[in-house]
Amino acid sequence: METIEAIKHRKSIRAYTEQPVKRQDIEQILTCASQAPSGVNSQPWHVAVLEGQTKMAITEALIAARRADEISIPDYEYYPTDWQEPYNSRRIECGRALYKALGIQRKDRESKQQAWENNYRFFGAPVGILFFINQSLNKGSWVDMGMFIQSVMIAATAKGLSTCPQASLAEYPNIVRKILNMEDQNLLICGMSLGYADPDHPVNQYQLPRESPDRFTGWFD
Ligand SMILES: Cc1cc2nc3c(=O)[nH]c(=O)nc-3n(C[C@H](O)[C@H](O)[C@H](O)COP(=O)(O)O)c2cc1C
Repeated sequence: METIEAIKHRKSIRAYTEQPVKRQDIEQILTCASQAPSGVNSQPWHVAVLEGQTKMAITEALIAARRADEISIPDYEYYPTDWQEPYNSRRIECGRALYKALGIQRKDRESKQQAWENNYRFFGAPVGILFFINQSLNKGSWVDMGMFIQSVMIAATAKGLSTCPQASLAEYPNIVRKILNMEDQNLLICGMSLGYADPDHPVNQYQLPRESPDRFTGWFD
């Protein structure tokens, strides 16, 4: 697949088949993504690939924490508390599209909770990936991480795989670190589902729109 095709083709997939992902493919994706640029070539990425029992343990622990109303203390605030326009409208559109695809009514809290928990199940994908950064690094390295994470998704797409980046998987970093036996200095940025898309599932049928470049670009001669 051409690079431009892979970038255009990528979208968040929230239902997967059980088809396993070859370890060799995951290794190739990570090798490819490690070509991402980073300030002074610091390569700030730390990755945990989850399969089998460890993935299951994380799923169960996150679902239990959520059901017990445990307070989520993420390592950083991903979203603002006060959403301004135009971001707020886009956020609302994003949620509406998801619930519409799943046939969930606005006030159906139980179904919404189920849909949220599917994040912790990696949407049924056979592989979960978690992205960490060392706390000694500064904001610039978080920029590098974004480039790395997108590169993972594009490389996966080029191999016929699908992904969904997930901040939800970083809601309870202490739980995750404990299961992975990791030190607190590893900050959890986000997670990702990786697998083969279920092409027929309703949740995979929609695509969110984008603004055209003339809406977000100024040209200066
Ligand atoms: C860092 C990051 C975190 C995200 N977290 C979640 C998440 O927890 N759950 C989810 O369903 N989608 C999540 N998304 C996916 C976005 O909703 C999605 O990228 C956006 O709506 C655009 O849709 P597209 O990816 O299909 O183009 C996340 C995306 C990013 C980049």
